[in-house]
Amino acid sequence: MSKRLPVVVGVSGASGAALADRVIERLIALEHPIELIATSSARIVWRQEQGYPWAEAVARWQASGLITEHNPNNQAATIASGSYPVYGMLIVPCSMGTVAALAAGFANNLLLRVADVTQKEGRRLVVVPRETPLSSVHLENMLRLSQRGVRLVPPMPNFYARPTTVAEVVDFVAARALVGLGLSPELDRNQQWAGLELE
Ligand SMILES: Cc1cc2nc3c(=O)[nH]c(=O)nc-3n(C[C@H](O)[C@H](O)[C@H](O)COP(=O)(O)O)c2cc1C
Repeated sequence: MSKRLPVVVGVSGASGAALADRVIERLIALEHPIELIATSSARIVWRQEQGYPWAEAVARWQASGLITEHNPNNQAATIASGSYPVYGMLIVPCSMGTVAALAAGFANNLLLRVADVTQKEGRRLVVVPRETPLSSVHLENMLRLSQRGVRLVPPMPNFYARPTTVAEVVDFVAARALVGLGLSPELDRNQQWAGLELE
């Protein structure tokens, strides 16, 4: 698959705005074009967690020349059609509301429509679901997604690497998500398990 095809990044209203920030920064560093969709809830969470408006972040990323942002209400956007070529899609972070809609095939915003299209076209879909604790309905919905080939990468810390900052954990989850999408060949050396010898 060509590295030049854009990646769709969907940002929903779960906690973990920093994860979206890190994933987008990494994709820009890898020189991947990005088709970006943030739900209205994602913008609220972004302001709360990052301390500045979503639009400011988009303006910063747009300096790369790699970002096309879409209105989440625009079901007529290019990426709403399977005929528009994209590599795959990453939803980071993914709320339980969006997980439920994905599981049901419900598509009343652009993010959900593109996720639906991604699946029908057999493209890669990686979801970073965030909620705690998880209820049975959350787990059932995630199982349905997993059984359909959606890759679930929950933001779980790599405790075995003894991270000392949130940024290290965010880096690890972002790298894991990109490996899941098949865009980043491997984790950074310091994120890989080096193995232990049994005594
Ligand atoms: C600060 C904040 C944090 C939230 N964190 C989560 C979360 O971690 N997981 C979740 O499923 N919903 C969370 N929500 C609730 C969602 O934003 C809400 O269910 C919303 O309708 C999701 O819509 P979306 O999936 O279209 O973005 C949070 C809301 C706020 C305001």
